[in-house]
Amino acid sequence: MNLPSNPTALHTSALSSLPLLARGKVRDNYAVGTDRILMVASDRISAFDVIMGEPIPGKGELLTQMALFWFDKLGHLCPNHLTGEAPESVVSPAEAAQVRGRSMLVQRLQPIPVEAVVRGYLAGSGWKEYQESQSVCGVPLPAGLTNAAKLPSPIYTPAAKAAVGEHDENITFERTVEMIGPELAAKIRDVSIAIYQAAADIARTKGMIIADTKFEFGLDPQGRLVLMDEVLTPDSSRYWPVEGYAEALAKGENPPSYDKQFLRDWLEQAKVNGKPWDKTAPAPRLPQEVIEKTAAKYREALQRLTG
Ligand SMILES: Nc1ncnc2c1ncn2[C@@H]1O[C@H](COP(=O)(O)OP(=O)(O)OP(=O)(O)O)[C@@H](O)[C@H]1O
Ligand SMILES: [Mg+2]
Repeated sequence: MNLPSNPTALHTSALSSLPLLARGKVRDNYAVGTDRILMVASDRISAFDVIMGEPIPGKGELLTQMALFWFDKLGHLCPNHLTGEAPESVVSPAEAAQVRGRSMLVQRLQPIPVEAVVRGYLAGSGWKEYQESQSVCGVPLPAGLTNAAKLPSPIYTPAAKAAVGEHDENITFERTVEMIGPELAAKIRDVSIAIYQAAADIARTKGMIIADTKFEFGLDPQGRLVLMDEVLTPDSSRYWPVEGYAEALAKGENPPSYDKQFLRDWLEQAKVNGKPWDKTAPAPRLPQEVIEKTAAKYREALQRLTG
């Protein structure tokens, strides 16, 4: 796997070849006709749901390459939205550099409003909840688990996709049945657990633990369930290198991770006008060191996985 070929950081894409559908926190999505979407992963980074002002060089391309790696490995478990066409083919030659390496040209699906979260380990909000109720999102768990412990088997803890700027809301499996019907709800649950399990097994051979992840699905014109969005990147998944895991587990600490932990830790102690940042926009200006360390983490994750 190559390192990013596009060294210029891209905070916000500006394509005039295609109509803009929406800008997410990280991706800029453009319509390609009525049946496809060009998803351009920018180098923006968000934390606590706030977009930072400074881009992370290489991040968009690393994220896209990682998602493509996983789509390729997991295609036998569920069809995905990739069309196989080159993103450069739908923009003008002058705009090819903006999309190359960092984009996916995908089939436009009817999105299903369920975020399919699978957890194989107890971490983050799951650990907090477990301490209060010995369950995570209503799924009962055995007693005696500690922070970062592996769960007896992966659990499915869906969420409802929130409106822009809002936090996703955890919901029960029963609620997803009410929303989309019993058949589709069960299929999404079963496929999500199977994909997580397959990915976690592959990652483990590369020295990485996937603690948890989130998938999104859509329906194609024939009504088939298709895996969409990005998959198994550090933005949607919690990756831990195996070497720090056992020690952290024994101490009850959070294992070091490949996600935005470094950025989050810095933000937790950052001061704005002498006071702790209140986690609303604008974010404090990121020091060069934070930008570089974060970029290095993303690079390392992809190298490990594909190297
Ligand atoms: N193949 C697809 N067809 C239709 N919609 C898709 C497809 N793949 C992804 N999407 C949707 O497109 C959007 C992708 O945008 P993006 O992830 O950048 O923004 P977001 O989810 O609104 O924000 P964020 O992920 O930053 O919280 C999501 O709403 C996702 O559900
Ligand atoms: Mg998204």
